Amino acid sequence: MAFRNDQVSELETNKILELARKCLGSSGDFVELGCYKGDTSLLLAEILQGSDHILYIYDSFEGLPEKTEKDQSALGEDFKAKELFVTKREVKERFLRAGYKLPVIKKAWFNELEGQDLPDKIAFAFLDGDFYESIRDSLKLIDKKMTKNGIIVIHDYLNPALPGVKRAVDEWLTNKQVKTETFQSMIIIND
Ligand SMILES: C[S@@+](CC[C@H](N)C(=O)[O-])C[C@H]1O[C@@H](n2cnc3c(N)ncnc32)[C@H](O)[C@@H]1O
Repeated sequence: MAFRNDQVSELETNKILELARKCLGSSGDFVELGCYKGDTSLLLAEILQGSDHILYIYDSFEGLPEKTEKDQSALGEDFKAKELFVTKREVKERFLRAGYKLPVIKKAWFNELEGQDLPDKIAFAFLDGDFYESIRDSLKLIDKKMTKNGIIVIHDYLNPALPGVKRAVDEWLTNKQVKTETFQSMIIIND
């Protein structure tokens, strides 16, 4: 599938796919929290074709929530509530048009999700919720479910316009024995 994504750069996308491929064959499923219109989800679905892994994707499908104080940035007022609105039906139709197996698509605010809404074991997680609480809640949901050698990729960790992402990740990383590296705006965490 050709590259097409206005949210994640091509280099970042290639890195996400390279890391996701490394998780093929390990036990656990693949999740994306903050799928928006499914550009990255479709590419993940493409590499999962023919595998036993299930792709789970999550979004409010109501656009972004309100920023909190922890998301305020001197860079201004981008990323307003309700921006990035897309319907679950539109995302589902994109998968059908592409001819890929449908992922599990859940419409919810991340703080409404419970453990049972996610797979029991996660091999690969892509978190792209943009804001402090969205990333904090996503990390809480996947925390105890990552398999050994599982990989977590969090977008916008180094994006100065979205400082809440780094705050949430750094808080979560306190007292964790995990390997981390950054790539463009992303942080990659090996559990
Ligand atoms: C930058 S977009 C995701 C882009 C997508 N990952 C991609 O690669 O194309 C962020 C998405 O996160 C969703 N989102 C942010 N915070 C959320 C929350 N707390 N609960 C549910 N969805 C959330 C927004 O609705 C939006 O669709």
